[in-house]
Amino acid sequence: MIVFYFTIVAISVSLLLPSAEAAVKKYQFDVVVKNVSRLCHAKPIVTVNGRYPGPTVYAREGDRVIINVTNHAQYNMSIHWHGVKQLRNGWADGPAYITQCPIQSGNSYSYDFNITGQRGTLWWHAHILWLRATVHGALVIMPPLGVPYPFPWWNADVESIENQGNTLGLPPNMSDAHTINGKPGPLFPCSQDKHTYALEVEWGKTYLLRIVNAALNDELFFAIAGHNMTVVEIDAVYCKPFTTDALLIAPGQTTNVIVRANRAPGRYFMATRPFMDAPVPVDNKTATAILQYKGVPTTILPLLPRLPTPNDTDFAGAYLDKLRSLNTPQFPANVPLTVDRRLFYTIGLGMNPCASCVNGTRLTASLNNITFVMPTIGLLQAHYFGIKGVFRLDFPDKPVTAFNYTGAPLTANLGTSKGTRLSKVAFNSTVELVLQDTNLLTVESHPFHLHGYNFFVVGRGIGNFDPAKDPAKFNLVDPPERNTVGVPTGGWTAIRFRADNPGVWFMHCHLELHTTWGLKMAFVVDNGDGPEQSVLPPPKDLPLC
Ligand code: C2O
Repeated sequence: MIVFYFTIVAISVSLLLPSAEAAVKKYQFDVVVKNVSRLCHAKPIVTVNGRYPGPTVYAREGDRVIINVTNHAQYNMSIHWHGVKQLRNGWADGPAYITQCPIQSGNSYSYDFNITGQRGTLWWHAHILWLRATVHGALVIMPPLGVPYPFPWWNADVESIENQGNTLGLPPNMSDAHTINGKPGPLFPCSQDKHTYALEVEWGKTYLLRIVNAALNDELFFAIAGHNMTVVEIDAVYCKPFTTDALLIAPGQTTNVIVRANRAPGRYFMATRPFMDAPVPVDNKTATAILQYKGVPTTILPLLPRLPTPNDTDFAGAYLDKLRSLNTPQFPANVPLTVDRRLFYTIGLGMNPCASCVNGTRLTASLNNITFVMPTIGLLQAHYFGIKGVFRLDFPDKPVTAFNYTGAPLTANLGTSKGTRLSKVAFNSTVELVLQDTNLLTVESHPFHLHGYNFFVVGRGIGNFDPAKDPAKFNLVDPPERNTVGVPTGGWTAIRFRADNPGVWFMHCHLELHTTWGLKMAFVVDNGDGPEQSVLPPPKDLPLC
């Protein structure tokens, strides 16, 4: 039996030691298959350096990071540095067949990139097939040496914690369990002690938890019994701090929270389980880890936190409304106030005929009714070297035919077509993209991730986007800035960004199932004037297909 481990949130503890002034951080990643036991079974999984979750990469803003990946596994591999902007350097972005050919078994590739203008928690994951289930880890970006965090009680000498999460399970939606830091917790069989992650805290100290939703297919709630969390950063951008008893995090997103260990010394569960407000089956089981006060005997039974109910749309909406950019003179929110290019993409699920499938049909997904077909060489190479016949630049700016997107369930065949169709965007133009969920087959929430950019989430609503009325309600002052955003079930989300990063940039639903079904496309952003505004030349060790 093959079991996929769905990583969701991992937790590990680290000391923020002042590092040497080293501006180059080097890592060696060996991709190897290793036996890991969970839920009473041992299974071989693909790992980096034999670890699940994989090693944490530490860097400071402004650093150059070089990660040499050697593939010892029998699977083709590529690694994506999720959220790193990769300015002019798509060669280091990582999605297989988008910016590079995969690293074949026995080969190596050095991902060589700079961290510019980002600080906080990002992460890395395999970006080919479903391998990110086990091949992922955190990427921690600290401020430059001597630069404080913008929160008075938070300084580089304070002990900090990374909090990542992991799930494990079976695709498509019947996972065995979610996990925290690769461990499902004691509510699952064979998971006492060794398969429970415990985070030891000292009374009176303040901790920074870095939370990554590395789950393949589930948006998650997360809470800690007895402790509030202060959200201070999302997707490696500082936000206006606010306090909450639970948080919502979609696959691909990261959230940093401050937690004070100031409650009665004891043991408290940290718990995570899915948010799902559409009629779609989901793994509802709760994964747990333990917040353990130092000196408290481990025989004490921990308390469970109250998590929102799995379909709590109201909690989700209220939580998302609290997310605002910090927007200070030092960390401004440079929201594009004018729009050069307006895009409107509908998200559709559907059934397509399939001769080789058991029941003659196959589930598909599309954007503007187009199911994306993966090319067989990297799109960035095709673009950079002008190789013809690999992709077309005719992805439509809006659906060819408008319809009542979120009306009664639609099963009619809208004539979904397949193609490797990309959208061309002028250098430095400002783009507004409205992502509209539809009731084709079913409404559902979709976390969309854009490579190469952060964007501002200027608006969100339920039902059909109204171009006459809705823009008046956009937040153009302090909208959250991020790289992954949830499109609400039966609703829409509007994002804006300035296309100042030339290259080929993937955009896709971060639910692995939907990506697989074709819910993806890519932008080709032109070069600007001269070499400083153009894609860099490819590195010598770029893998061949
Ligand atoms: Cu985290 Cu293209 O993905």
